[in-house]
Amino acid sequence: MEKLYLHVFSLLLVICLFPQLIKSQDDDYVRQPPRGVIFTHHTSSDEDPQQVHISLVGKDHMRVSWVTESKHVKSIVEYGKESGMYNGKATGEHTSYKYFLYSSGKIHHVTIGPLEPATTYFYRCGGSGPEFSFKTPPQKLPLEFAVAGDLGQTEWTNSTLQHIGSMDYDVLLLPGDLSYADTQQPLWDSFGRIVEPYASKRPWMVTEGNHEVESIPIINPTGFKAYNARWPMPYQESGSTSNLYYSFEVAGTHVIMLGSYADFDAKSDQYKWLQADLAKIDRKVTPWIVVLLHAPWYNTNSAHKGEGESMRKAMEKLLYNARVDVVFAGHVHAYERFTRVYNNEADPCGPVYMTIGDGGNREGLALKFENPASPLSLYREPSFGHGRLRVLNETHAFWGWHRNNESNSVVKDQVWLESLSSSKTCMKSGSQKVGSSSVNDEL
Ligand SMILES: *[C@@H]1O[C@H](CO)[C@@H](O)[C@H](O)[C@H]1NC(C)=O
Ligand SMILES: *[C@@H]1O[C@H](CO)[C@@H](O)[C@H](O)[C@H]1NC(C)=O
Ligand SMILES: *[C@@H]1O[C@H](CO)[C@@H](O)[C@H](O)[C@H]1NC(C)=O
Ligand SMILES: [Fe+2]
Repeated sequence: MEKLYLHVFSLLLVICLFPQLIKSQDDDYVRQPPRGVIFTHHTSSDEDPQQVHISLVGKDHMRVSWVTESKHVKSIVEYGKESGMYNGKATGEHTSYKYFLYSSGKIHHVTIGPLEPATTYFYRCGGSGPEFSFKTPPQKLPLEFAVAGDLGQTEWTNSTLQHIGSMDYDVLLLPGDLSYADTQQPLWDSFGRIVEPYASKRPWMVTEGNHEVESIPIINPTGFKAYNARWPMPYQESGSTSNLYYSFEVAGTHVIMLGSYADFDAKSDQYKWLQADLAKIDRKVTPWIVVLLHAPWYNTNSAHKGEGESMRKAMEKLLYNARVDVVFAGHVHAYERFTRVYNNEADPCGPVYMTIGDGGNREGLALKFENPASPLSLYREPSFGHGRLRVLNETHAFWGWHRNNESNSVVKDQVWLESLSSSKTCMKSGSQKVGSSSVNDEL
């Protein structure tokens, strides 16, 4: 089965490959053409854990997720602060799913904790097999997020992941489009194996993109079958009823993961949840609010033009009134940074919008930007890479976009951000409280 998929993809790749060696506007960097899809195989025993990844749950717990071919492996995780010394143990749950002829392995999810902040833990999945380790995020700032969207699984993905892993960070944020399995389920397993060296060491917090939907009548009518089974996020903990949108807090930052592919109109569950979630934020505890979603609300690339527009119209005011600091999107395979914007105009109290959909998937880069550039767009470049948001303290954060070079990465765009929570004018005007009454106020 796996071989057949590989042939199909090789063929697709040959069809899609065309030279994309163009020069960027700002320097003589020669943009690299797309690279091949990687398909990884499971090589160890059926009992051994594969596709291990971790995600934050609540303020001091971690969910450990992994897959075994064997159905007999128990959903247990042993852990401790010293290698080989496991004085903690937790039992979790497991699931599996079918998709046409494909039958998934046993997918385990075990939540462990309470854990101490900024501490390395060693752990083992299923009672035997190799040892893994991760570091918990700090309780207080500073904190560093790595941000990468539209990852896929090509040699460019490998390159992006290597650059992400080569410098320390605390939490990875992914604004949608993970595996590009596109119904070829073995590619979900392959993706899990490719990201394991990184996703087993640091929490990976994701939201869904269009490539996660995979809806097909009868087999997957409501979509997200593989995504929800493999990448559960802590949605219940934030009062959400769907894995497609949720929020979490980590060291002075309130992170909201929105769902571009869940209903978002004013009557929707997502809208009501977002309203309630924003209203609960205490800027003294979390001076920073970061939002992720897939289809960008602001975008000057010709790719996916206007696709985020109805969601923007529905929800932009909520984010604006709450004084959200940054909104990251994916979907467009390029990097773009806007100034602070509200309702298509520069606004010092609006969020900074960034598109970071340049993780390295097989569809290649979105090379065409509109000209002339909108004055709202401050930097744009169709190159693969990733971003880093280093939140230094309650007022200052440093953003850097790292373009993939061959064996290294190069910082091509960087900017200091100041939290809107420290802006007297923005917190006084508008309504940093997003209670029910203030939401519809005109500003
Ligand atoms: C990609 O990365 C994986 C995991 O680090 C490695 O096993 C594999 O050899 C790499 N593949 C290529 C083509 O570089
Ligand atoms: C926050 O960090 C910035 C940049 O390093 C610094 O200028 C500022 O003084 C810091 N503020 C506090 C309250 O420490
Ligand atoms: C990019 O990579 C090439 C090849 O490894 C290297 O020669 C070059 O110095 C790198 N450029 C930068 C700016 O790091
Ligand atoms: Fe997408």
